[in-house]
Amino acid sequence: MTGGVVHIGVLIHLWFSLVNVEGWRYHFLNNTMKSWNETRSWCQQQYTDIVMVHDENVTLFLQKILTKKSSSPYYWMGLQKINGNWTWVANGQTVNYENWATNEPNNNMSNENCVELYISKDDKSGKWNDDGCINKKYPVCQQAQCPNSTCTAGEDCIEQVNNFTCVCKPGFSGPKCKKVISCDQLSTPTHGKMKCSGPFGNHSLNSTCTFSCAGGYKLSGTAELKCSSSGAWSAPPPSCAGAISISKL
Ligand SMILES: *[C@@H]1O[C@H](CO)[C@@H](O)[C@H](O)[C@H]1NC(C)=O
Ligand SMILES: *[C@@H]1O[C@H](CO)[C@@H](O)[C@H](O)[C@H]1NC(C)=O
Ligand SMILES: *[C@@H]1O[C@H](CO)[C@@H](O)[C@H](O)[C@H]1NC(C)=O
Ligand SMILES: *[C@@H]1O[C@H](CO)[C@@H](O)[C@H](O)[C@H]1NC(C)=O
Ligand SMILES: *[C@@H]1O[C@H](CO)[C@@H](O)[C@H](O)[C@H]1NC(C)=O
Ligand SMILES: *[C@@H]1O[C@H](CO)[C@@H](O)[C@H](O)[C@H]1NC(C)=O
Ligand SMILES: *[C@@H]1O[C@H](CO)[C@@H](O)[C@H](O)[C@H]1NC(C)=O
Ligand SMILES: *[C@@H]1O[C@H](CO)[C@@H](O)[C@H](O)[C@H]1NC(C)=O
Repeated sequence: MTGGVVHIGVLIHLWFSLVNVEGWRYHFLNNTMKSWNETRSWCQQQYTDIVMVHDENVTLFLQKILTKKSSSPYYWMGLQKINGNWTWVANGQTVNYENWATNEPNNNMSNENCVELYISKDDKSGKWNDDGCINKKYPVCQQAQCPNSTCTAGEDCIEQVNNFTCVCKPGFSGPKCKKVISCDQLSTPTHGKMKCSGPFGNHSLNSTCTFSCAGGYKLSGTAELKCSSSGAWSAPPPSCAGAISISKL
């Protein structure tokens, strides 16, 4: 009998994992309820973390994929009251999108520090309710899916609902973000030396140039300049001043 239950559990589990879609994937259990802590541990073991419903697109997507329940319990999501602030536990950010049901959060039982996601046939579907963390509800997890190979070295991968997108890192532009920004070529100061190097060439993003002066001359200005992502050097180029002639004055 136990075997049968486990077997059905595994089957249902597989049915409700979205397979082979790049980007955030969402996973949920429809047959096993867990406390909020148990939900989070399970999500972290199996996937990435308990779900963040951070905008209306996630709300709409979850309403589409999760099984509608006709009454409580509904689903646990990854929002918790921490030092009085509603916080996404997966990234530690305070909420900036909220979708509470009417008259919620009400802290009705005065220990309602976790958030339930209603998924139902009525108009409260997709709305949030604060509830006690020890109550058992159905888990919803998220899995990060930014693939390694799709974005180029000049791109950052941003997770989206069920997908990802590549955006240019600061200092990169053009198709596939392959064009790297350069700063003006600098010239060696009179009576001095300049040494430049950088990951993308001597005068491009994150390159540094260091300056020194010949004996008897003193560096006037900044000894090390860095090429910033806006294409400007971090300071004006220095010069070498005749220290001896200055001391004679
Ligand atoms: C939701 O998705 C639509 C269509 O893809 C997009 O235009 C919109 O910016 C998204 N909203 C948020 C908050 O990401
Ligand atoms: C909670 O929010 C208050 C006011 O918005 C803020 O001053 C405080 O720093 C926040 N606490 C934490 C732990 O983020
Ligand atoms: C508050 O909790 C009590 C006791 O469980 C329950 O009877 C009542 O319906 C709850 N009120 C709301 C607004 O949820
Ligand atoms: C949940 O886990 C946290 C940290 O692991 C712990 O401090 C807290 O007491 C737990 N809550 C419950 C209701 O078990
Ligand atoms: C990305 O690469 C790391 C190490 O190179 C690997 O462990 C990980 O599984 C890869 N992730 C994906 C989504 O391909
Ligand atoms: C996912 O994102 C990639 C790259 O931005 C895009 O080519 C693809 O069409 C998207 N897939 C879906 C299902 O939206
Ligand atoms: C960068 O500068 C060094 C000397 O500082 C020089 O030897 C090297 O050839 C330069 N590399 C490029 C790509 O300009
Ligand atoms: C450039 O330098 C900054 C700060 O040192 C670093 O955060 C950034 O990742 C670097 N950019 C690249 C493309 O290596």
